[in-house]
Amino acid sequence: KTITLIGAPTDVGASVKGASMGPDALRVAGLAEALQGLNLQVIDRGNLHGPANPWQEPVNGLRHLKEAIDWNQAVYDAVEAAFNDGQFPMMLGGDHCLAIGSISAVAAHCRRQGKKLRVLWFDAHADSNLATISPTGNIHGMPVACLMGHGPKELIDYAGFTPAIQPSDIRQIGIRSVDEGEKKFIHELNIQVYDMRYIDEYGMRNVMSSALAGLDANTHLHVSFDIDCLDPSIAPGVGTAVMGGPTYREAQLCMEMIADTGLLGSLDVVELNPALDVRNQSATLAVDLIESLFGKSTLVRN
Ligand code: ARG
Ligand code: MN
Ligand code: MN
Ligand code: MN
Repeated sequence: KTITLIGAPTDVGASVKGASMGPDALRVAGLAEALQGLNLQVIDRGNLHGPANPWQEPVNGLRHLKEAIDWNQAVYDAVEAAFNDGQFPMMLGGDHCLAIGSISAVAAHCRRQGKKLRVLWFDAHADSNLATISPTGNIHGMPVACLMGHGPKELIDYAGFTPAIQPSDIRQIGIRSVDEGEKKFIHELNIQVYDMRYIDEYGMRNVMSSALAGLDANTHLHVSFDIDCLDPSIAPGVGTAVMGGPTYREAQLCMEMIADTGLLGSLDVVELNPALDVRNQSATLAVDLIESLFGKSTLVRN
């Protein structure tokens, strides 16, 4: 299997600057070399191009809508092209609004292949805001709602069908910051959320067994990995840090249990903000966890 790295260097969906430098920080941390070390083929397509961040206030509850539409179209096209070439797309953000384009392309791929889809959304945040309820207007707080058909028409229709995914397709893990209106909305949508309290009470092993339940050989597993899911004491390089996230050990176990399924078909790595990092430690940690996600293990396993 060949992994295609797709850099999407933008922060148009955020209000803190710097996630646009995420792709290169992951390269500097040795992402391609780490994957090659696991005997995987890697093609680095370099970075996509898109509009500059105009740094404007939200209009009708949405900041930088036009720019977010264009960036997501570029991501959609690149992820779709990777699938068409039989490759594994790894989208390097960039802020989390880019998961709209990425996961829309995954959903289209699954529909073409007659596959079921399971999305694991690792995040401190639920990212399920609407223009009408978002306290910030930042589109990186809205991708889950858009993927479920709630959002500006251009952001919900990349795949050519709406909604791109169903609430039953997604599991959210590590959540600990949800806005007031968003809280009601995810409850109405009936999204399965393993928040930090759930992880505390049941433990990460049980959380992951549950999040991975019901998969079969015909399931495409997509991981959308927001680096701010991790506890900021180990991953300070993010724009919207929230204390109280998974530890290093818990994060490793998540990745290992996903690798064990053998079903991982695509990945987003988003919200890494090198401007706020400490000697690239968050990028280095991300690469370490991605190695586990692709099957690196301490002992021989069967
Ligand atoms: N809920 C907040 C908002 O809507 C924060 C979202 C943070 N999202 C992220 N992908 N880091 O603005
Ligand atoms: Mn996010
Ligand atoms: Mn987040
Ligand atoms: Mn697939």
